[in-house]
Amino acid sequence: MDLNLKGKRAVVTGATRGIGYAIAHRLAREGCDVAFCARSQGGVDKAQAEFANLGVRAFGQALDVRDESAFGTWFEAAVKNLGGLNIVVSNVSTRPTRGGEEAWRESFEVDLLQHVRIATAAIPYLKQGKDPSLVFIASIASGLTQLPPGEDAYGAMKAGVISLTGQLAAKYGPAGIRVNAVSPGPVMFEGGFWDEVRTGAPQLFAAAARLAALGRHATPEEVADPVAFLCSPLASYITGANLRIDGAALKSANF
Ligand SMILES: NC(=O)c1ccc[n+]([C@@H]2O[C@H](COP(=O)([O-])OP(=O)(O)OC[C@H]3O[C@@H](n4cnc5c(N)ncnc54)[C@H](OP(=O)(O)O)[C@@H]3O)[C@@H](O)[C@H]2O)c1
Repeated sequence: MDLNLKGKRAVVTGATRGIGYAIAHRLAREGCDVAFCARSQGGVDKAQAEFANLGVRAFGQALDVRDESAFGTWFEAAVKNLGGLNIVVSNVSTRPTRGGEEAWRESFEVDLLQHVRIATAAIPYLKQGKDPSLVFIASIASGLTQLPPGEDAYGAMKAGVISLTGQLAAKYGPAGIRVNAVSPGPVMFEGGFWDEVRTGAPQLFAAAARLAALGRHATPEEVADPVAFLCSPLASYITGANLRIDGAALKSANF
């Protein structure tokens, strides 16, 4: 299926591994030029070479999205380099290193405010682009009342992202901008969170796999493909949605 993404210009945050990498790679394979960021320079250089190898223009930069000034400067430069903007995928998250209120502040900064920030920066450019689409990467943690220790703030902020998605979809639908969220369940990739759990806490890893009706973790590509569809003109009447990509891990009907 041709997603009609050739020539589109996309910004993806956190695209050097896992879900963000798979999304940027998929968009590049579809013919999109991509601008992306991550903190590690080595990771950015490697991804940059891989995306450019697919025959598109790729603009990677090492930065921490928590640095408001660096983020703003990068975003403007990214859109300028791309020559416009059609697609934004806001993907970066955090796993708080401290406990108590500090964890809530850290989660708020990265898992909610950063999404507000990128939307605010992107909307004026998306309004000028053809088939504009904004996708937030949320999580099924938004719908869980029993989260692993240390993930309470993560779940609450991801719920906030889904609320933000609906609000932005309503506000910018008249301007033709579609805004959607996806909520993955556990996603396994080498060097990722669940890879650490696989070796450090195999029982938890197995329990997470059993939670899904499909009986296993997702791959990053199984999240990236539906995201590419949501970014594409083929999803032209889908906005304000929260697409669960969890192998039916959540035990409630998805109204
Ligand atoms: N993995 C899962 O099971 C799962 C499940 C549900 C939802 N999700 C969501 O999916 C998204 C991606 O998660 P993931 O597990 O694939 O990837 P991840 O391991 O969290 O890494 C994501 C990417 O973001 C970059 N990054 C992290 N913090 C950053 C920061 N402060 N500034 C700039 N870049 C930063 C990382 O590179 P650097 O480290 O070099 O910065 C990497 O390229 C997140 O929103 C997460 O909540 C994941």
